[in-house]
Formats: sequence, structure tokens, C-alpha cells
Amino acid sequence: MIAAKEFTPEVIKRAYNRRSWVYSKTVAQMEWIYHLAALDKTKIKTGEKVLEVAVGPGLTIVELAKRVGRETKIHGIDTSTGMLSLAEQNLRAHGFSNFQLKEADSRQLPFEDNTFDVLYNGYMLDLIPAQDMPKILTEFHRVLKPGGRMVLLNMSKRNDSTKTTRETLYSILPAKLVLYILGGCRPVLMEGMVKDVQFEKTIRTYLEGKFPSEIVTAIKPHTQ
Ligand SMILES: C[S@@+](CC[C@H](N)C(=O)[O-])C[C@H]1O[C@@H](n2cnc3c(N)ncnc32)[C@H](O)[C@@H]1O
Repeated sequence: MIAAKEFTPEVIKRAYNRRSWVYSKTVAQMEWIYHLAALDKTKIKTGEKVLEVAVGPGLTIVELAKRVGRETKIHGIDTSTGMLSLAEQNLRAHGFSNFQLKEADSRQLPFEDNTFDVLYNGYMLDLIPAQDMPKILTEFHRVLKPGGRMVLLNMSKRNDSTKTTRETLYSILPAKLVLYILGGCRPVLMEGMVKDVQFEKTIRTYLEGKFPSEIVTAIKPHTQ
């Protein structure tokens, strides 16, 4: 996994605020097929408590909301207020009112321990410096109930020895262009780090295609 450029959370937030509408009409649509595969792995049952971290323009939170049903409140966070406002519009356009969206950073989730049955996070960890990933995964673990399921969807590559064109571009382009052309994302491999944070039953599924991706599913154990 290559090192991330030195983007501060503030820089990422500004960049995704600026590109929220364009992102919703372009990249978010192209990545939809990968989300459908990842959403299937959530195996959500009606009434479960679900958190989506990094809701983006809200395409996925609508699908998650359909699965939990209208009686149950669904929760989402993002650092970008532009994205949160698109997610709200999208939920309302699909007739949902039972939701809570908050501006928050995944490094410090504004929820009690052991709150959620399912945590879904798509295409965010590929923006995050490697040194911050354990902290974020520890937060994901903290807010899940024992037995709770985590589903991550990331830009990725077949394995660590593969070198991709995106990685080459990410490495040679100046940081500003990496942010605007590549959205600041590089391929990541999260399975090992997830295991290190004491999740169990960690499974990685690699998905080929235009945006090679991985789905990593894991469960917070009942006893530590
Ligand atoms: C590439 S977009 C993915 C959006 C959405 N999950 C999707 O797949 O369409 C990355 C999203 O992560 C959000 N984000 C970036 N860093 C974050 C952080 N530390 N905590 C929460 N959200 C973050 C951005 O604002 C943006 O909405």
C-alpha cells in the first residue's frame, strides 16, 4: 500500500464540499455496481440499528434505509456539509424522514459504545493516511454492538505486490492534482489492519473492473 499524500482533514473536507454535486453525478454513479455487492454483504434485517460513515451524496444511505425500514432511524456522518446536504435531499426525495445525519470525523464518532448492529463505510479509507487507519477502525469497533457487522468498501488492488496505474499517477502527480483528478484516493488493503483491531471472521472479497475495489467484512466478537 503506498503512503497517502499529506492532506489534512480540513483539506479533504474543503475538497469534498467543492466537488459534492459533481461527485454525485459522476464517480458515485460509476462506483454504484461495487456498492450493490457490498450492500448485499450487510445482510441487514428490518429494525437493525445502522450507521453509514462517510455518506457522501447519500446514494447508499437510501439503500440502507430501505433495508432497515421506515420505523427505524438510520444514522449517517460525513465531514463534508455539502455531501450531508445532498444525502438529506436524497433521503427526503425517497420519502424517508426517520434519519439523523451529523457532521463528524470518523476519527471521533459521536456515538456511545456498543450502539450499532451494522456499520457501512464506502470509499473513505482510501483517502486516509495509514497511520490514522487503526484509530478509525478502533472507533468502528467501539460503536458496534458485540456481534455487530462491519462492511468496508475501498478502492484496492489484487494484492500487495500488484502495482497499479492509479498508484503511479498518485505518486508522480502533485498533491493538488491528486486531490482533483483522483479525488485523493489510492488503492488500500484493509484486511490485515481490521484483524489487528480485534474484529473476527474477517473476509476480503476483491472486485475487478473500472474501479478495482475490495469489500472487507468483519464482526465484533461477543467476548474480548
Ligand atoms: C470518495 S467519497 C465516498 C462517498 C460515499 N461513501 C460513496 O461511496 O459514494 C469520500 C467521502 O468521505 C468523506 N470523508 C473524508 N474523510 C472523512 C473522515 N475522516 N470522516 C468522515 N468522512 C470523511 C468525504 O467528505 C466524502 O463524502
